[in-house]
Amino acid sequence: MNHFEMKEGELHAEDVAIRRIAAAVGTPVYIYSAATLRRHYTVLRDAFAVHPELGTPLIAYAVKANSNVEVLRVLSGLGAGADTVSEGEIRRALAAGVAPGRIVFSGVGKTRCEITFALKTGVAEINVESAAELDAVASVARELNLIAPVAFRVNPDVEAGGHVKISTGKAENKFGVSFAQAHELYAAATKDPHLRPVGVACHIGSQITDLAPLRAAFIKMRAFVESLRAEGLSVERLDLGGGLGVPYFNQPDPPSPADYAAMIAEVIGGLNIQLAFEPGRMIAANAGVLISDVIHVNVRPEGRSFLVLDAAMNDLIRPAMYDAYHDIRPVVPRGGAHRTYDVVGPVCETGDTFARERDLAPLETGDLVAFMTAGAYGAAMASEYNTRPLIPEVLVDGARFAVIRERPTYDEILGRDRLGGWQT
Ligand code: LLP
Repeated sequence: MNHFEMKEGELHAEDVAIRRIAAAVGTPVYIYSAATLRRHYTVLRDAFAVHPELGTPLIAYAVKANSNVEVLRVLSGLGAGADTVSEGEIRRALAAGVAPGRIVFSGVGKTRCEITFALKTGVAEINVESAAELDAVASVARELNLIAPVAFRVNPDVEAGGHVKISTGKAENKFGVSFAQAHELYAAATKDPHLRPVGVACHIGSQITDLAPLRAAFIKMRAFVESLRAEGLSVERLDLGGGLGVPYFNQPDPPSPADYAAMIAEVIGGLNIQLAFEPGRMIAANAGVLISDVIHVNVRPEGRSFLVLDAAMNDLIRPAMYDAYHDIRPVVPRGGAHRTYDVVGPVCETGDTFARERDLAPLETGDLVAFMTAGAYGAAMASEYNTRPLIPEVLVDGARFAVIRERPTYDEILGRDRLGGWQT
């Protein structure tokens, strides 16, 4: 459920007409709904609350999905923690008021600098993904004379389904260590005075629309926790990652948070452990839209019609990168028979195509369209390819809206380049 609805013939974000925001801020623009963010977080939190045997999980929102500080503040205000994968993301979480003890630091390639920053910050846990990384964390902790709380990300060797580029839980993927290696590392870490093993973690992929692979992975994780404990090792936390999918209209509807929580209660119930989750997409995706203006409608005499937009692959790369489907809606639909369009951006690549042969209400130059479900992995993955300025982000909350990231000026963009100093 989200708060982007048609009212009086035009698309609104909560109580604000999208046309009004586009007129004030320009296009392309990302628009987020605070009510939708809050709703998604609380629905998930409440789904767990139905199962008291699960305790109170740490819901560490995956910052990578949408990392705007004001978006993070909406979630941190509700008590969300943060799953982070870089120093930059840790800094964003801190700027949004997330307590260090609610920050998880994940990722396969943390630098010594980043580990130093995380340890000085006092994050809840560093999710270690390899033996080499454990050595690095131990050595940084020793240098700083601190004790690093570590969890081990296990690769449970489960096929998550979904797009191959975002599937992470098979043995051949770069993520995590095997159960056997995790076992060895866990035991070794308990002997290092600068390491404190606190738990184990897994994350098998993203946009998962079926509970079966998650269940399979979680069953293995439970057995793993039990085997560690059977050897007298203390395991306080089990981090079950993110990954639950959202409806993009061309895929099966994903399981509800209630079904997800019920499955977890069934698999994990009675383990007596602190659970952690790292949801990104399910919190942010349906809480955002990308609004773009139609530059031309290029109707070829041979038949194909191209809807040329002012948004491009640099603003929303998901269709080009994962063949992702985003519902496209006219902001103020015109009457008349639907037409078939190829929806494209201005970037000089055929890959800059959002949709092929999409059936849409008729559109004309100057009309606005909305890409739905664009709040996750939209702005966060944008670039300035073709020297197109990063587009602004707007947060709507009831009848209010504010620009929460400004469009940079061309002077700011060019001002980052420097002279080498030797050319005349
Ligand atoms: N935890 C870890 C360790 C992750 O790698 C990810 C996502 C998440 C949590 C959050 O997963 P989510 O709940 O959002 O599925 N750019 C791609 C998605 C990449 C996901 C990467 N990792 C896309 O646009 O589909």
